[in-house]
Amino acid sequence: MDQPLGGGATAVARAHSNIALVKYWGKRDAALNTPAVGSISVTLAALYTDTRVTFRPDLSGDEFWLDGSRSDATRVSRVLDLVRRRAATDRYAVVSSTNNFPTGAGLASSASGFAALAVAAAGASGLTLADRELSILARHGSGSAARSIFGGFAEMHAGVAADGSDAYAEQLLEPADWPLSVAVAITERGEKSINSTIGMGESATTSPFYQAWQDSAADDLAEMRAAIAARDFARLGELSEYNCLKLHALMLSTRPALIYWNAATVAAMHVVRGLRADGVPAYFTIDAGPQVKVLCLPADSAAVRGALALVPGVHEVRMSALGPGAHRLE
Ligand code: DP6
Repeated sequence: MDQPLGGGATAVARAHSNIALVKYWGKRDAALNTPAVGSISVTLAALYTDTRVTFRPDLSGDEFWLDGSRSDATRVSRVLDLVRRRAATDRYAVVSSTNNFPTGAGLASSASGFAALAVAAAGASGLTLADRELSILARHGSGSAARSIFGGFAEMHAGVAADGSDAYAEQLLEPADWPLSVAVAITERGEKSINSTIGMGESATTSPFYQAWQDSAADDLAEMRAAIAARDFARLGELSEYNCLKLHALMLSTRPALIYWNAATVAAMHVVRGLRADGVPAYFTIDAGPQVKVLCLPADSAAVRGALALVPGVHEVRMSALGPGAHRLE
């Protein structure tokens, strides 16, 4: 079968990174990449991935280029296989992605990367998919990517269906509905962390806290939804820090321990708490890496940026507004 594809066979898409306020860690079904817990995130305007997908008749396998270097295409092919099946083609694709931020250093490049891939691959194959289907497609690449289909605030549902059909994200608010700022303090530029997929698998099998993590997720999600609906920043921030530290307690109790923090990560956490003591509402959150993301109100962004820039070991502070959902560029 080598059917010509509708829609021109090439498409380019941009998707923005996101940072979870209530985190995903653990899988319900590894093959379908369904999460064990739901999650809530904000999409970041300043960090994004651009991805071009071209289906070609002359390829014997998928090719993946990341920031100009040939990279492992295994996960990319997992998403493309689903697109090929739906579009009834067996053509392979060249996928070329560029991030406007350091790849693989805990800045959620897989979130923006697989969301951009889902939109570009669907477009290049001539498929018209609803956001929910794009979210499911992106999830097969990376769980957090399901949320980057949407701008503003998004919630990922863990779902219960055996086929993963109810494990998708939905938008809670548009970016303009509640403008917040996020400072991203970069404390390490290299790709040193243990990858999330491996780390969460180890937590599930070795940490005595894993059951408690799963059992307490629904309460955190309900409280976060309420904080967002009420535009209650203090509640949102306090809960984000609590959920982040609970995740890191789970990571620290994994065997072997997942220690994602460095000295600057910890110093930045104390600076954020110090800002709060001085009356500046700012709250940190940290993923599977050493970078510290700080939530604040737009009016306080200069003060937060200035304080983080002074932390020894912080190389750079990037400020971001909340960003849009994944979209086609051409
Ligand atoms: C700590 O989405 O990278 O950032 O689905 O295995 O690719 P896979 O995992 P991934 O995990 C993200 C973990 C996190 C929390 C979050 O973004 O919710």
